[in-house]
Amino acid sequence: MQASEVEKPRIVILISGTGSNMVAIAEALQKEESDSGIDAEIVGVISNRPTATGLEKAQAMGLHTDIIDHTLYASRDEFDHALIRMIEDLNPDVVVLAGFMRILTADFTRYYEGRLLNIHPSLLPKYQGLNTHQRALDAGDDIHGVTVHFVTEELDGGPNAIQAIVPILDVDNAQNLQQRVHAQEHIIYPIAVKWFCEGRLTMKGNEALLDNKVLPATGIQLQS
Ligand code: GRF
Repeated sequence: MQASEVEKPRIVILISGTGSNMVAIAEALQKEESDSGIDAEIVGVISNRPTATGLEKAQAMGLHTDIIDHTLYASRDEFDHALIRMIEDLNPDVVVLAGFMRILTADFTRYYEGRLLNIHPSLLPKYQGLNTHQRALDAGDDIHGVTVHFVTEELDGGPNAIQAIVPILDVDNAQNLQQRVHAQEHIIYPIAVKWFCEGRLTMKGNEALLDNKVLPATGIQLQS
């Protein structure tokens, strides 16, 4: 087989909103020849919200999109099984949660174990769940940040791959802190997806590995 015939890793991205992380990853794919580029293919962007503005951005980038409206399903189980069927039609190697605002069932997370990534706006394990920026400010923390991690059954609890640390300034409020964190998200998510697509980032047991070396609990840390 010629090198050019080798199938690229297939990425499915799940969104619920603006999709700026999805765009950051898609842009990294467009730069596949550069050091920060990703040699892979986004085979679908799926939103559980029909009005998600990220859908238009994906279409403008020529990406295939699907909608699966969670409000049309009687239970979380039914929705997650339908979502698995929709994803499986796209035959992905990795499923990337990029602002996908749904709690996933254990059936779903087990199905995609080791090939399901998420980005969470805090230095996990701190501040699982919502309102992370305000919670970091209320706690008087000096630093905050964002984490890309493998998804397991525990909400925001799977092993960390990479974190960006964002210093908290005296003048910060939740809004401007969120903006600085968001800017870092667009840097670290493409890095993590690139590592995964190159076969460098893996999960074994409840640990993340880079180049077959177990990562520290924080994941690789970048300072912003
Ligand atoms: C980000 O803040 C991410 O950390 C969280 O959801 C948000 C998604 O933003 N999981 P976007 O839709 O990628 O702009």
